[in-house]
Amino acid sequence: MVGVHILGLSLIIGPFLFQVTRKAGFDTTLMQVGALTQLVTGLALVGVREAGDLAVDHVKIGVKLVVTVLAVVTVFLAARKQQAADAGRADPKAPLPFFHTTGALAILNVFVAVLWT
Ligand code: HEM
Repeated sequence: MVGVHILGLSLIIGPFLFQVTRKAGFDTTLMQVGALTQLVTGLALVGVREAGDLAVDHVKIGVKLVVTVLAVVTVFLAARKQQAADAGRADPKAPLPFFHTTGALAILNVFVAVLWT
């Protein structure tokens, strides 16, 4: 489960870094899969730990959950803005802030995961 959780984070941060210098034309398909993967596997990991009577830091988990839900929202907004831009209904740069916010939130959660003891 932790392995899938790590692969999920790479699905967000990999495509983010690959496209980070772009100003337009973002492909967020893998990032959408990754954000949803983090939500599902993260909650499952909490369940596994609770079931095994292992300690769970509820404040840390709460922070990770909020950050991840925000990442899910921003990645889907980025995809919607990209669709609108592709159809000529929005500025080509419209997805950029949502794309960058998604990547930043995922990176923030890596540091919350590893530095919050
Ligand atoms: C973008 C979102 C996320 C990222 C980048 C991320 C990152 C990580 C990383 C790097 C680890 C391994 C290091 C460690 O054990 O502390 C980890 C573990 C863990 N994550 Fe996440 N996480 C995310 C979302 C979530 C969410 C939403 C939850 C729960 C609601 C969650 C719950 C957990 C738990 C319980 C572990 C510990 C697993 C164990 O050692 O038993 N994570 N996460």
